[in-house]
Amino acid sequence: MKKMINPGTLLTPLPAVIVTCGTMEKSNAITVAWTGIINSIPPMLYISVRPERYSFGIIKESGEFAVNLTTSALTYATDFCGVRSGRDVDKFQHLGLTKQKANLIACPLIGESPVSLECKVREIKELGSHHMFMADILCVDAEEKYFDSKGKLNFEQMGLITYSHGTYNATGSKRGFFGFSVAKKKK
Ligand SMILES: Cc1cc2nc3c(=O)[nH]c(=O)nc-3n(C[C@H](O)[C@H](O)[C@H](O)COP(=O)(O)O)c2cc1C
Repeated sequence: MKKMINPGTLLTPLPAVIVTCGTMEKSNAITVAWTGIINSIPPMLYISVRPERYSFGIIKESGEFAVNLTTSALTYATDFCGVRSGRDVDKFQHLGLTKQKANLIACPLIGESPVSLECKVREIKELGSHHMFMADILCVDAEEKYFDSKGKLNFEQMGLITYSHGTYNATGSKRGFFGFSVAKKKK
């Protein structure tokens, strides 16, 4: 039996990404859990950000941001970027994060993140508490050491984390692969 409870944001687990914005000189980083892929061709994602965040104005003005995937090693930084504002602290400096130059946008990528997605805002939708930035993924920057010999990215080796209603959790316990439920067994 399931018990009916009030409507809430109980979709879980989610990625908790660090979104970088601004320029190489004047940058900021904000943790975002309200994010996801919204289209395949062209590749698009969204981030929902409250207008009161320092990052909000920066992203709205520049129309650019990068989504940096987070790992176990970045858990502390993920939390810190989500509880301190760039109005008060230089988060890159405080956390000792490496600013890496992006290819197609002005804002820095986080060097310690294994995968960064460079994004350009296409549309902003006011939803209520948050405004949703719908953006094109212009390119993806992935750490070389995670490519296998066939040029495929090995996400299992990255030690990515998820966010599950208040806690950060490690990923990595494989249970299947796309299509395995119908795949022919190898003899
Ligand atoms: C795990 C986690 C997820 C968060 N997700 C969001 C989010 O999706 N959207 C948002 O506006 N704020 C989110 N926040 C809060 C912001 O990251 C936080 O207010 C941050 O300090 C804002 O930084 P800024 O003022 O430098 O932009 C999240 C915080 C944490 C810890």
